[in-house]
Amino acid sequence: MQSRVGSFSSLEEAKDPSFKIIHQSNRPFPLRFLQYLLLLLGIGIVFSFLCMYTSRNLKVQNVVPVIQSRFQSCAQERNNLESWINPPSNLLHNMNDTELLWRASFVPNIKQYPFKRTPKIAFMFLTRGPLPMAPLWERFFKGNEKLYSIYVHTLPSYKSDFLPSSAFYGRQIPSQVAEWGEMSMCDAERRLLANALLDISNEWFILVSEACIPLQNFSIIYRYISRSRFSFIGSFDEPGPYGRGRYNENMSPEVNITDWRKGSQWFEINRKLAVDIVQDSIYYPKFKQFCRPACYVDEHYFPTMLTIESPDLLANRSLTWVDWSRGGAHPATFGKNDLSDDFFKKIFDGQPCLYNNQPTSLCFLFARKIAPNALDHLLQHSSKFLGF
Ligand SMILES: *[C@@H]1O[C@H](CO)[C@@H](O)[C@H](O)[C@H]1NC(C)=O
Ligand SMILES: *[C@@H]1O[C@H](CO)[C@@H](O)[C@H](O)[C@H]1NC(C)=O
Ligand SMILES: *[C@@H]1O[C@H](CO)[C@@H](O)[C@H](O)[C@H]1NC(C)=O
Ligand SMILES: *[C@@H]1O[C@H](CO)[C@@H](O)[C@H](O)[C@H]1NC(C)=O
Repeated sequence: MQSRVGSFSSLEEAKDPSFKIIHQSNRPFPLRFLQYLLLLLGIGIVFSFLCMYTSRNLKVQNVVPVIQSRFQSCAQERNNLESWINPPSNLLHNMNDTELLWRASFVPNIKQYPFKRTPKIAFMFLTRGPLPMAPLWERFFKGNEKLYSIYVHTLPSYKSDFLPSSAFYGRQIPSQVAEWGEMSMCDAERRLLANALLDISNEWFILVSEACIPLQNFSIIYRYISRSRFSFIGSFDEPGPYGRGRYNENMSPEVNITDWRKGSQWFEINRKLAVDIVQDSIYYPKFKQFCRPACYVDEHYFPTMLTIESPDLLANRSLTWVDWSRGGAHPATFGKNDLSDDFFKKIFDGQPCLYNNQPTSLCFLFARKIAPNALDHLLQHSSKFLGF
């Protein structure tokens, strides 16, 4: 492109002397001769350019977009490394899902980064709109700005009103309606993953809801996740009507009954698994067609798919604590009167679990579902309850 720009501008310069020649006729002969030569040269250049241009006339429709797109790529300065390393400055884009997933599936083949990469955790908030626990999360994030990024998926019509000082400001991604138990919910999760993948520094991806709270301070959570050999996604083989009972024979041979898994949708996965989910075109159509309510696809698609593809990378448990003990279709919600020392002690002293194949009592880093009215109480006691 550079050389083309050069020839355009030198053509402009050649025009000026020719104008001068026409208006200044009282010059001595040798100079005048020189001027004529220059004029001829100028005309020659213009003429040869015109010839070149008209000879391409038939192809003009092809040539113009090429020139335009070269201009655009120059303007965006895609040629320097920073533009590949730095996160997009604006989360809004006009890619549709097909284009976004394609773009997000790019993976460098050289595994060593030629720059200092500080791996970040992407916190992906899936909500219909408001984030009532935002002030608590902001306190949690404070001081760790280099180690996290935030993405928020809402109803498309929802406009959040975070102040520029908030960690959530400008973090809404282009969203679409997502229905619980439907494929549109998995689409929303893939959309969150894809947007977060556009930042090359995001290494771990956590899905949380508006009713989730962190149970530890940031350093503990970062260390726990970054040092784990496994990704934390619930994945178990459940006999009975709510597990294997939801399997549909038409999914084979891609998915056999022995591969069928169930797990809560609130996952933590690493970058490799995030790319696997975003690029999947093998299992997606099967689940879309054959796992419809009462098969709740958001409980089966990712656990089953990842268990088939990468069983060795999964911890098979979720980091998000939830209480199903009251029974029914929904887990218990906790308000401000429920959140006492005893409540948190019960979570922390529960059943031990495995961390990097060693038993530990620290099994949960997040909890749901917490009611909005608990916010003030939590803010007041956050250092006692949550350590931040
Ligand atoms: C996105 O746009 C492309 C090109 O117009 C089209 O082929 C594709 O079907 C679109 N995808 C969606 C999900 O709308
Ligand atoms: C996080 O919590 C741990 C344990 O409670 C504590 O030792 C550590 O100092 C805390 N870190 C920060 C940055 O507050
Ligand atoms: C399912 O079973 C069929 C036949 O036994 C086999 O060919 C296929 O590879 C299995 N699929 C998976 C994902 O293991
Ligand atoms: C998780 O389950 C898969 C099989 O479903 C198994 O291969 C893998 O070892 C399990 N992960 C851990 C950490 O036990």
